[in-house]
Amino acid sequence: MSLTIRVTRHGGPEVLEPVEETLPPPAAGEVRLRHTAIGLNFIDTYFRAGIYLAPFPHGLGQEAAGVVEALGDGVVDFAIGDRVAYGTGPLGAYAEHRNFAASRLVKVPDTVSDEAAAALMLKGMTAYYLLHLTHRVVPGETLLVHAAAGGVGSALVPWARHLGARVIGTAGSPDKAALARAAGCDAVILYREQDVAGEVRRLTGGRGVDVVYDSVGKDTFAGSLDSLRPRGLFVSYGNASGKAPPFEPVLLAEKGSLFFTRPTLAHYTATRAELDGAAQAVFAAIAAGIIEPQIRQRWPLREAASAHLALESRQTRGASVMLP
Ligand SMILES: NC(=O)c1ccc[n+]([C@@H]2O[C@H](COP(=O)([O-])OP(=O)(O)OC[C@H]3O[C@@H](n4cnc5c(N)ncnc54)[C@H](OP(=O)(O)O)[C@@H]3O)[C@@H](O)[C@H]2O)c1
Repeated sequence: MSLTIRVTRHGGPEVLEPVEETLPPPAAGEVRLRHTAIGLNFIDTYFRAGIYLAPFPHGLGQEAAGVVEALGDGVVDFAIGDRVAYGTGPLGAYAEHRNFAASRLVKVPDTVSDEAAAALMLKGMTAYYLLHLTHRVVPGETLLVHAAAGGVGSALVPWARHLGARVIGTAGSPDKAALARAAGCDAVILYREQDVAGEVRRLTGGRGVDVVYDSVGKDTFAGSLDSLRPRGLFVSYGNASGKAPPFEPVLLAEKGSLFFTRPTLAHYTATRAELDGAAQAVFAAIAAGIIEPQIRQRWPLREAASAHLALESRQTRGASVMLP
């Protein structure tokens, strides 16, 4: 029997139900994994609450590291005992064991711990594509990064600095602001108290930033728009406070012929080559010390509900992992 977290209705953290299940043998093309560490992500709360939908009953979680325990027919790229990780769906990472498609799995190098892989596969690959593919950051650019002390923020900020950008962060409390500065922010705006666009204009001599990376959504949308330079890029990649509001395209003209995109990791890692490119970039960035696994919370898997409660009430800093 193997512990897994199941969701059979939408709601608060209380709908996360620990159950014992017997796994079938891995199907053709799959491997059986024994998870050693599981990443906690804000997207997990969207599926639990019904902001994003999956058919019931479903598991949860898209990021984990572990060991290959059995091979389905036709799997040739992995062997029993391999240390592996993944950072994309399907849902089901909140589990001691699972069967998972070999085509979406990567081997973890010896230089990267299981916890680091579980913390940085999804979040690190997100930082990678946002800074290299959604927009190719070049030295001298100024970026605004919301929730800079969060899981993705803690990878995005130092990587952006490494690429030569000036980074203005936002954070919800003074201690998170200090973490964001330590991660590489040149300045941090306390966005629950300060006027973001006003501060950005002050910090940029009135010009505005080249790119806004906005994972907060509803609460930050207006301030992000007003923080951009003419022809700047608005990257709306998350909804931590709720979805960004609908708007008319002419708004982008009024605010300075802006560009707007709503990217998601799945579309940047759709092919095996794209997945390998992103994963290897993350492993190389960890090995070079460009990004670090900022794991500041750990929970037993059985206490996933407590982890969700902490994440949604803004109590977490950096990344969080759950341990089977
Ligand atoms: N599009 C993609 O490909 C992609 C991939 C990965 C993640 N994401 C998104 O990136 C965001 C960050 O994910 P994460 O897992 O790293 O989470 P996280 O940043 O560790 O946690 C979310 C943070 O958002 C801030 N926040 C602002 N308003 C909030 C509110 N009303 N409720 C809760 N938090 C609020 C909080 O920081 P403060 O206290 O500092 O405000 C909180 O710590 C999420 O929106 C996620 O969906 C998108």
